[in-house]
Amino acid sequence: MPARNAPMWALGYHQCKWSYYPESNFRAIGTGFRERQIPCDALYLDIDYMDGYRCFTWSPTHFPDPKTMVRELAADGFKTIVIIDPGIKIDPNYSVYTEGLANDYFCRRADGPLMRGSVWPGLCNFPDFTRPDVREWWAGLFKGLIQEDGVRGVWNDMNEPAVFEKGTFPDDVRFNYDGNPASHKKAHNIYGMQMARATAAGVKQFTYPNRPFTITRSTYAGGQRYSSAWTGDNIASWDHLWLANIQCQRLSISGFSFVGSDVGGFVETPDGELYARWIALAAFHPFFRTHSSGDHGDQEPWSFGEEVTDLARKFISLRYQLLPYVYTTFWQYVKQGTPMLRPLAFLDQTDTDTYLRMAEFSLGDHLLVCPITTAGADGRWMYLPKGQWYYWWTDEARTGGAEVWASANLDRIPLFVKAGAVIPLYPVMQYVGEKVVEEVTLHVYYKNGTEHSVLYDDGGEGYGYQEGHATTRRFTVIGTDATLTLRQEIEGDYTPSFATYRVVFHGLPFAPLKGTVDTKAAPLTEAATETDAMLPETVVKAGFAEIVIK
Ligand code: NOJ
Repeated sequence: MPARNAPMWALGYHQCKWSYYPESNFRAIGTGFRERQIPCDALYLDIDYMDGYRCFTWSPTHFPDPKTMVRELAADGFKTIVIIDPGIKIDPNYSVYTEGLANDYFCRRADGPLMRGSVWPGLCNFPDFTRPDVREWWAGLFKGLIQEDGVRGVWNDMNEPAVFEKGTFPDDVRFNYDGNPASHKKAHNIYGMQMARATAAGVKQFTYPNRPFTITRSTYAGGQRYSSAWTGDNIASWDHLWLANIQCQRLSISGFSFVGSDVGGFVETPDGELYARWIALAAFHPFFRTHSSGDHGDQEPWSFGEEVTDLARKFISLRYQLLPYVYTTFWQYVKQGTPMLRPLAFLDQTDTDTYLRMAEFSLGDHLLVCPITTAGADGRWMYLPKGQWYYWWTDEARTGGAEVWASANLDRIPLFVKAGAVIPLYPVMQYVGEKVVEEVTLHVYYKNGTEHSVLYDDGGEGYGYQEGHATTRRFTVIGTDATLTLRQEIEGDYTPSFATYRVVFHGLPFAPLKGTVDTKAAPLTEAATETDAMLPETVVKAGFAEIVIK
């Protein structure tokens, strides 16, 4: 079942903590990002924004004027995301509770009484999200937060469902189960997904014409239609960094690609090295958010000294440059169900050497990543699948089908590009939409042979794509000993903001003397790249059909 299109900003960087409050602290986090020029699109409010942990309320002391706060943060590019749990406080003066009670929306025990359990607000009742009318009611509750207050996304938590007394509901609790009554034994695994479904419907309705964003802790097969997910409460340890890599790949090949981990670890505090390695990995995960329990130490990208701040800025900025590639990979996932993260065995099933490899994965068609998950490393051995590859940081060409050493001090993550790839990059932006993208850089990696790449664009927001306002640019690279041809076929009628490409050629085995664009002579210049290599480049109209260099 395909996922839904995410707004592009949801693929940017998110910052979270349990909890940012009061309002002045929350705003200061936003200022911290902009002052340091570390890109960020979303800031999260954990349970302390509520009034006594009552869902759909604001704490009058911590957040006296949420509407103004959310609006002013939005003007600076920040989307505010709020947490919503399933436990509804038993409180006769709380309208969500009294409405739920009056309409009999809460789950009951087998012998009749309402299911009661303690969560953050104290004793709670729990909506039966497996009932369509309950989901509709729940969706409607988001009007205030989303439409009136301007919140842009919702984070569902504790929806396994978690209760303090016994972990979860007793087995006898009854559920409507969409008209096929069942006990908790059966409903447990889908309760969280049905909550996310109801939440997503509400966010979608009230955020229109923008696209909804939701994240959930609990979900089930099929839940990718409604929400992104994260891997829950991890620990700030090297083992859990390793685990984050494995979990996200496995979720991805199980059909659920929009996933990520709490960067740096939720429980305990990472040191700067662990945080830097984690942010480097998460820059290649579909969902990219730092979150922590907040009671040990700060966990903002600037909390670990200047060196780590610079590293975090570097990897988060790289993620923003890669957004057109990540967004295209997301679109492939939405359209075709293709996992965004692909383990090596998924990449080459004919190569038995890939079968037991776990650390290496590709993000999309052409980027291969292998995180460093040990302290004190200056690189690592990793397996490169068959074919030709380039080391991202140096352009060094490597042949796959073997283990290779990838040198990676803290300022690098082992990252290879497949030969023949066309990798589109945006300029660095502090948030999606900060700048009008006037030029996209296409990094073209030479291959002796043919390779296909795609760049999908629909503006990253709204529903125009459903009326066909989307453009797919299909690139073909054909390399011979003495030439490189780059073809582009454009389908669709979305008019992008960019009018030109800067095309940078990597790995040419010949010194190019001349280039043609659509049969006319094209000037080739030499430009310095981030790797300090001087590479031939040309600036062309975005509508070109064929570039040949020889
Ligand atoms: C548990 C969640 O997993 C965590 O992310 C959150 O911060 C706490 N609940 C508090 O809401």
